[in-house]
Amino acid sequence: MGQVAMLIDLNKCIGCQTCTSACKSMWTDEPGQEYMLWNNVETKPGRGYPNGWEQSGGGWTPDGELAPGVLMDKAAHGMDGTVNFEQVYFEGTESKLQLVPRDQPARVEKKSSPFVILNNSEANVAQEDPGCGSNFDEDSSSGEYPNNYHFYLPRLCNHCTKPSCLEACPTRAIYKREEDGVVLIDQDKCKGFRECNSACPYDKIYFNYVTGKSQKCIFCFPRLEEGVAPACARQCPGRLRFVGFLEDLDGPIHKLVNEWKVGLPLHAEWGTEPNVFYVPPILPPQFDENGDLGNEARVPIEYLRELFGPGVDQALATLETEMERTERGEPSELMDLLIAKDWKSLFKIPEVKYF
Ligand code: SF4
Ligand code: SF4
Ligand code: SF4
Ligand code: F3S
Repeated sequence: MGQVAMLIDLNKCIGCQTCTSACKSMWTDEPGQEYMLWNNVETKPGRGYPNGWEQSGGGWTPDGELAPGVLMDKAAHGMDGTVNFEQVYFEGTESKLQLVPRDQPARVEKKSSPFVILNNSEANVAQEDPGCGSNFDEDSSSGEYPNNYHFYLPRLCNHCTKPSCLEACPTRAIYKREEDGVVLIDQDKCKGFRECNSACPYDKIYFNYVTGKSQKCIFCFPRLEEGVAPACARQCPGRLRFVGFLEDLDGPIHKLVNEWKVGLPLHAEWGTEPNVFYVPPILPPQFDENGDLGNEARVPIEYLRELFGPGVDQALATLETEMERTERGEPSELMDLLIAKDWKSLFKIPEVKYF
């Protein structure tokens, strides 16, 4: 009947992880879910979460067959641990924030004051080097100073139109709802085969090692059914996540994806037809040899094409044109949409007859 979709404007994402926390506290606070981040925000270019997901295969071959994929193990998601907030801030037994592996108790040496001011490097000292993590590359730039660059990429299940996870499951535990296209895993039918884990090229399915079943983003369907936007979108302080139905011709998603063509899927070449779209990032141009801003793009266009496909050139050109229009004081429907002065304009969730 319809396909719900999300559009994320990467030009406004500040990497604050509010979306990650909103999802985590709402949906994955049960035993076995500790390591899961159904929504994560990674720094790009970077290895991402899980570590190396872009190289793990999955999705569809050009011939319409399931492409082989690698099963990402728990270690690829980083160390499963807790941060010793209690000991530092409340008990006064620790002076530095540290990541403590979950199966080891926090150290209990007495320290003089719990309220130490930590600089970043001290705060990030881990008891053991986890090797990778949910945003291990946070804020690490690529390229050479002063023309280095990075941006943030929020990721969640794409609720794909052709979900390879669904096709791969031998027990048919995964299904796509007719009402809104949300892809769900039936926890009663799931027998833990994990074929879905390797079949999803975005590595957005997580195995619950306590229940022995796979779990993933549910697009906050209980909220959708009440006409409320998903938690990750509603809590975003950057007002950059649009939610609506692709078929709604007056909605922001249709306008940004199909009319303005500035919303692009991530790695469309994997064939799953994702329903999460991204407005590609425009960073300031490179400095020239005199230290003035020149004309060279800072983020290599080849890299953006790798992520968002060949449509990224035209999307960036459209954004530039409309930004210039606004600079001249002329009206721009596109800029008005993306700026979203009224937060309610981000969400257009029509009434769907769910029951
Ligand atoms: Fe399935 Fe979601 Fe992966 Fe698409 S992104 S293949 S719907 S788990
Ligand atoms: Fe989590 Fe809901 Fe966002 Fe999915 S849509 S990532 S379940 S908050
Ligand atoms: Fe980016 Fe919004 Fe998530 Fe913050 S809450 S990381 S601004 S998408
Ligand atoms: Fe199927 Fe994945 Fe469960 S393959 S049985 S949904 S672990």
